[in-house]
Amino acid sequence: MHRWKTIVEPFRIHSVEPVRFNTREERSSRLQQAGFNLFGLRAEDVLIDLLTDSGTGAMSRDQWAAIQHGDESYAGSPSWFRFLDAVRSLFPFEHVIPTHQGRAAEKILFSVIGGPGKVVPNNTHFDTTRANIEYTGAEAVDLVIAEGHQPQVVHPFKGNMDVEALEALITAVGAHNVPVVFVTITNNSGGGQPVSLANLRAVRAVCDRHGLPLFLDGCRFAENAWFIHEREEGQQNRSIRDIVRDIAAVADGMTMSAKKDGMANIGGWLAMNDGELAAQCRNLLILTEGFPTYGGLAGRDLEAIAQGLNEVIEEDYLRYRIRSTAYLADALSDVGVPVVKPAGGHAVYIDARAMLPHIAPLRYPGQALAIALYREGGIRGCEIGTVMFGRHPDGSEVPAAMDLVRLAIPRRTYTQSHIDYVIEVATWVAERASSLRGLRIIGEPPALRHFTAQFAEIDESAAA
Ligand code: F0G
Repeated sequence: MHRWKTIVEPFRIHSVEPVRFNTREERSSRLQQAGFNLFGLRAEDVLIDLLTDSGTGAMSRDQWAAIQHGDESYAGSPSWFRFLDAVRSLFPFEHVIPTHQGRAAEKILFSVIGGPGKVVPNNTHFDTTRANIEYTGAEAVDLVIAEGHQPQVVHPFKGNMDVEALEALITAVGAHNVPVVFVTITNNSGGGQPVSLANLRAVRAVCDRHGLPLFLDGCRFAENAWFIHEREEGQQNRSIRDIVRDIAAVADGMTMSAKKDGMANIGGWLAMNDGELAAQCRNLLILTEGFPTYGGLAGRDLEAIAQGLNEVIEEDYLRYRIRSTAYLADALSDVGVPVVKPAGGHAVYIDARAMLPHIAPLRYPGQALAIALYREGGIRGCEIGTVMFGRHPDGSEVPAAMDLVRLAIPRRTYTQSHIDYVIEVATWVAERASSLRGLRIIGEPPALRHFTAQFAEIDESAAA
């Protein structure tokens, strides 16, 4: 049978949102006003917003319909039970604690199990996870395999944990100082790269040897399951649901942002089997989020997530999702823009350090590239590099492992022509790469500086 090359979106458009066009001059002045921090822009001044895939996706007809069934009862709402069933049908943990988003789950969990002297390993901590751990005085350690730090090296499961390094860390610091081992699926900060079932099971074995619980940061679990379906031996004929259940079966709990593979605009959860831990977490939940049958969510949000969890594991959706991300990565690679290979699930990561060798890491090549994509084409991406990870709790600043610009693709939101435009703009910028300038930071907060830091462009001719 003939295989068509065109990626046909497995939906048609039912309701549209306008986007606004502006000029390069207007964008230049918006950049000045925002202190060259793209988080400081008004979204209306962005044409194609690839800042994040978090909460920015389009909901389906059936999700909007489910919202009408939202029951806002304070306790024991039917919407809560639909949510609970949907979560448990994929992740059968005993205790499910709804939160308003992923970081709320992290905050609650680490408030209970973190603290000075504790060490939490992960393949790569997402920035809010790291910040929530460090806020308690604990240490967050990244242990992704070596390939995960090499943008050009192709490996089917670049998000895998370095199991030997994990074993060595636990032995060095003592298992009693490790409250939990985390694995992030997919590994967002490392390029949206998947973790294999085999690796999860190897991590499980290490945890078992030391009597440690294993938790998943499950934000993009369905995309990770699709990669397992496509790339891991013996998984091709299995359903996504079964693969997700296998993933869940290795873990003792999870944190989740439903703004990603929950296909919702808000929401999350914390789940676990340990009843004592769950009781402590629920006490904090009541303090900060809400009653345990709604957390920080409205009943209608619980409905949207419950329906979203059914849709995100559909094969037609996942095939389109992963292929369309690869389409952008391949096109950029073809015109010589260095991208992290292979393409991740939710985003394409441009290797700004390789693209802009004339800008030193401490002059933020990722930020320089993100600014250029906005100035030239109204595209908003996100620096994932030295701005995000360079400042350490002791006040020192060192270059991050990589300087990337992430173009995150909101789910079911942009068409192929939007993406073709992104390719055109990125090509234009790449052809003028040597004219891009580095930046210096002129103001930054004590933590999570990338959200609010203010920058100034460095005039190299003046510096010379
Ligand atoms: N863990 C991972 C792997 C994430 O990617 C995120 C959010 C979180 C936890 C926190 O979840 O936003 O619901 O509080 N990532 C978004 C992003 C913000 O753009 O990658 P949240």
